[in-house]
Amino acid sequence: MKKFLIIFTLFFLNVFAVEKNILVIGTGYVGLVSGTCFAEIGHNVTCLDIDEEKINNLNNNIIPIYEPGLDILIEKNVSSKRLKFTTDYESALKKADICFICVPTPSKDDGSCNTNYVIAAAREIGKYLNDYKVIVTKSTVPVGTGHLIEKVILEELNKRDQYIPFSVASNPEFLKEGFAVEDFLNPDRIVIGTKDRKAKNELIQFYEKYNDKLIFMKIESAEITKYAANTMLAARISLINQIANICREVNADINEVKLGIGSDKRIGDKFLNAGIGYGGSCFPKDVKAICKIALENKVDNTLLKAIDVVNQEQKFILAKYIENYFEGDLNFKKIAILGLAFKPNTDDIREAPSIEMIKYLLNNNVIVKAYDPIAEANTKKIFEENENLIFCDSLIDAINGCDAIAILTEWDEFKNMDLYEIKKYLKSPLIFDGRNIFNPQELREMGIKYISIGRKNNF
Ligand SMILES: NC(=O)c1ccc[n+]([C@@H]2O[C@H](COP(=O)([O-])OP(=O)(O)OC[C@H]3O[C@@H](n4cnc5c(N)ncnc54)[C@H](O)[C@@H]3O)[C@@H](O)[C@H]2O)c1
Repeated sequence: MKKFLIIFTLFFLNVFAVEKNILVIGTGYVGLVSGTCFAEIGHNVTCLDIDEEKINNLNNNIIPIYEPGLDILIEKNVSSKRLKFTTDYESALKKADICFICVPTPSKDDGSCNTNYVIAAAREIGKYLNDYKVIVTKSTVPVGTGHLIEKVILEELNKRDQYIPFSVASNPEFLKEGFAVEDFLNPDRIVIGTKDRKAKNELIQFYEKYNDKLIFMKIESAEITKYAANTMLAARISLINQIANICREVNADINEVKLGIGSDKRIGDKFLNAGIGYGGSCFPKDVKAICKIALENKVDNTLLKAIDVVNQEQKFILAKYIENYFEGDLNFKKIAILGLAFKPNTDDIREAPSIEMIKYLLNNNVIVKAYDPIAEANTKKIFEENENLIFCDSLIDAINGCDAIAILTEWDEFKNMDLYEIKKYLKSPLIFDGRNIFNPQELREMGIKYISIGRKNNF
């Protein structure tokens, strides 16, 4: 009976699921994953970008980013004609019921959020709007951007001397790179900011399969929710890193402390891994942006600012350990950098600790041999040719002949490396671990000197 009920419910959901025509503007990490997953749950999706090369590549089945499972879903949905790619705003917009804005919102020099890309997208929408649509912002934007989008679209409609109804809503994205597809298809919650009844009904139909996850609120609340979530997570990282730095000095072990505090249900054990700081395209810029939002609204931001300050310092902690170990003489030391991506399972190197670390080592005449399973191509784009920076095709190639290893990203490949084998390739068995992936005691027993975060050296 129970089985019959489940089958009936699934059948009912699929038969009566409302299929929508969706336009996703901006085909980057968020846009491409969102668009593909929208297609996967049964909608007709067009992903649009101003980057012609990216769209041409996608139309030739060349995927611009690495995200586990994404390539398979793209192929599947393109062949079932539920997913298309274009650069043509006019024709793509014409067919759409709902339009998601997923363009970048980088930091300006003063740390505030640059909404120019969002406004540019809104202008294009205003130019070509032909009938009622819901315009939804997925990009992370400061409070008030929803109203700004509305204003810009109205300006464009005025230029055309036309009034076409539309609604504006906010639907911030919470996916994590490296788990983006999984997160998107199994969200903890879907936050929607709108008080517009028509938009709300459209979005309830659109997210029909996730109705138990929907949280409706004011557009301003939704906009700030995304910053609040990222700030909370970034704060946890900066906090655990400072606690780790204390642990190291007082002969405590941060991993034991993590167990001790993480088992408290009020605290939980997620986001308690000490390391060399957070990176990526979101935490750094969103923490800076919320500091600015506080300032602009005359709210004290002491705590918010500290999150970033602590993180900046932490990015250099491993370099300092390396320098101390070699008593300040880094000249022509060979260091293998293992991991370039800001975290595992992604090729994203935006604001990755590896960048600062490599610059620091190169400035100190270190010969850097860098290896990452997939982020090498992106890293090469930001470093000029330098004979002291050697990109390697394999882990063994990177460590061969080095004075030490520095682990910057906790890829499984590094967690699973055969340390007895590794020892054979190093000049001396020495590992600096910025992600605490090994047990100091075990490494001591293997005769490997091990320097990690929030723990005393094992020698
Ligand atoms: N990357 C993440 O993990 C993540 C997670 C949650 C939220 N966000 C937010 O989502 C937004 C997008 O981030 P991303 O990482 O996907 O950026 P991205 O840089 O990977 O992709 C953005 C894409 O938008 C395109 N674009 C720029 N202007 C455009 C325009 N006017 N019209 C059409 N396309 C345009 C760019 O060419 C690019 O391909 C940002 O606000 C970010 O803060 C990102």
